[in-house]
Amino acid sequence: MRKPLIAANWKMNKTIGEALTFAGTFGQKLFERFEGGHIPVDVLICPPFLGIPALCAVFAGKPVYIGAQNMYWEDKGAFTGEVSAPMLKHTGCSFVIVGHSERRQLFGETDEHVAKKARAALDHGLKPVICVGETLEQREQGNTHKVVSEQIRAAFSQIKPEEVPSVVVAYEPVWAIGTGKEAKPEDAADVIRGIRETVDTMLGQGVSEELRVLYGGSVKPANIRSFMLEEQIDGALVGGASLDPEDFFKLVETAHKTKG
Ligand code: 13P
Repeated sequence: MRKPLIAANWKMNKTIGEALTFAGTFGQKLFERFEGGHIPVDVLICPPFLGIPALCAVFAGKPVYIGAQNMYWEDKGAFTGEVSAPMLKHTGCSFVIVGHSERRQLFGETDEHVAKKARAALDHGLKPVICVGETLEQREQGNTHKVVSEQIRAAFSQIKPEEVPSVVVAYEPVWAIGTGKEAKPEDAADVIRGIRETVDTMLGQGVSEELRVLYGGSVKPANIRSFMLEEQIDGALVGGASLDPEDFFKLVETAHKTKG
């Protein structure tokens, strides 16, 4: 059984003070709702780097995971402006997003970079959230499965079958990100089925049964249920709607009710 995961990608939003305000409101709602501390859904918040220590401190010992939105694959050295996996791990991170389409498009991140980052994350006990997804042009040309499969093949090229339960994939069609135009749940499920097939072909039949695959792209309280009803979809990676503590709580609550 794959545990649902609802993940917030705050992108370049919130000062440390704003992150703490969010944490106060969200934490109160979450812990009141799930008294006793057991939450049947994994909850992950990925703030900008600066917010990580504050959120790790607030949620220490609580079932809310903190992650980064990016990292570099080397441990240390002359890489100005970069942050490494051991640094994130020692600060209290459990997850790290790698290969988000904004990093691929705006910062020149390649499939090879994504593979190295995923490998380095696993080497240091961080769970990589590997993002894949096609552009509108690629979709219109009928290349969605091909593009996503190539991204998966590259990202998993250095991953061993026994590591798959520690890996998360986020299928985020680029055209659905921040546009308010979400994918059809059945279309997302179809692409995710293809992702599992690719992983099974590479690493062994049945390996992907333990791979958590999220959908991302304009997920909000009003539409999350339709995604969570799909057996293939294990959760969501959420941008805009994760910035509001009430909305993010609703996403966790709906995921729990739908999958529970
Ligand atoms: P939105 O939820 O704002 O569309 O962003 C999705 C995303 O890119 C999450 O990583």
